[in-house]
Amino acid sequence: MKIAKNLLKQKLADLEKHYVAFLCEQFARWREFADITQRLIDSAPVNEQECPESYLHEFRMLREVLRMDATGSFDWNNSVLRESFAHFAISPFYKIWGETIARITLLLAEEAGVKTLIEIGAGRGHMTEIMLKNMAESSCRLPLIVTDVAPAVLNEIEKHRLAYPANPLRTMPWDISQPPPQELLESIERPCLIYERASIMYSNISALENMASVTDIVVLGDMFNYTGELFAYDSISEKIGGKPLFYSQIKPLMEKHFTGHFFFDLRAQEMLGYPSTTILIGWK
Ligand SMILES: C[S@@+](CC[C@H](N)C(=O)[O-])C[C@H]1O[C@@H](n2cnc3c(N)ncnc32)[C@H](O)[C@@H]1O
Repeated sequence: MKIAKNLLKQKLADLEKHYVAFLCEQFARWREFADITQRLIDSAPVNEQECPESYLHEFRMLREVLRMDATGSFDWNNSVLRESFAHFAISPFYKIWGETIARITLLLAEEAGVKTLIEIGAGRGHMTEIMLKNMAESSCRLPLIVTDVAPAVLNEIEKHRLAYPANPLRTMPWDISQPPPQELLESIERPCLIYERASIMYSNISALENMASVTDIVVLGDMFNYTGELFAYDSISEKIGGKPLFYSQIKPLMEKHFTGHFFFDLRAQEMLGYPSTTILIGWK
């Protein structure tokens, strides 16, 4: 696949500038958040007012996770957890994250003559909706296959299909910790592009190998740990299934299966000393 990294970066420059500027505000006080979550683990008193505004919902959720963990009775239907998840889906960060993933995807799809798009870990379809809106705005009618490990959540995608009837959209179960199902392999035309937001962290890094077996390009929006450092908020997130995705483990897999890759928002990581990056692009 002929993708020149420098040329691609030039085409993405405006988008990158806008996104990195947002991240620099969003994550500016990440060290304070790391300290506060450490105090939660240490059972030290923490006042909600001490938490940086951009982390407030995450703070409430992690505090609740620790509370439930201490009582030994974890409940996904807990109202604080439900409220936090509902907030994340509509939060400014999730919106710009999804919007940026969608725009990068469509730019790359056009550059590389992509014939099939696959979304993984679609959940309730918040990312799917952003993608369909962007496809409609750019008159893109590429076939889109929306997948998730849980077949039940794919029913949620139906309402988006109805809202965007011009787009050929199918749903299919796929557990990305396993190789792609035969039905998926038979449904795609290459070149193919896989995109996602916040799902690999609930699976594992071997998912990259499974994706590489079916796709030519990836646009992955997840919390990729670039520096290898872990903080208190990471260990609390692990209690609800969020695993750190270390670049030291990702790099050899990307180099094995793709000819080029880079972290779209690495400048934000460098400017803030923040451990994570949030968008990884790779191509064969
Ligand atoms: C936090 S939600 C994100 C949903 C959606 N991507 C979004 O951005 O709104 C995580 C999703 O990853 C899915 N997931 C977790 N493990 C997975 C796996 N092994 N294979 C595929 N999807 C998985 C879950 O079912 C869930 O829908």
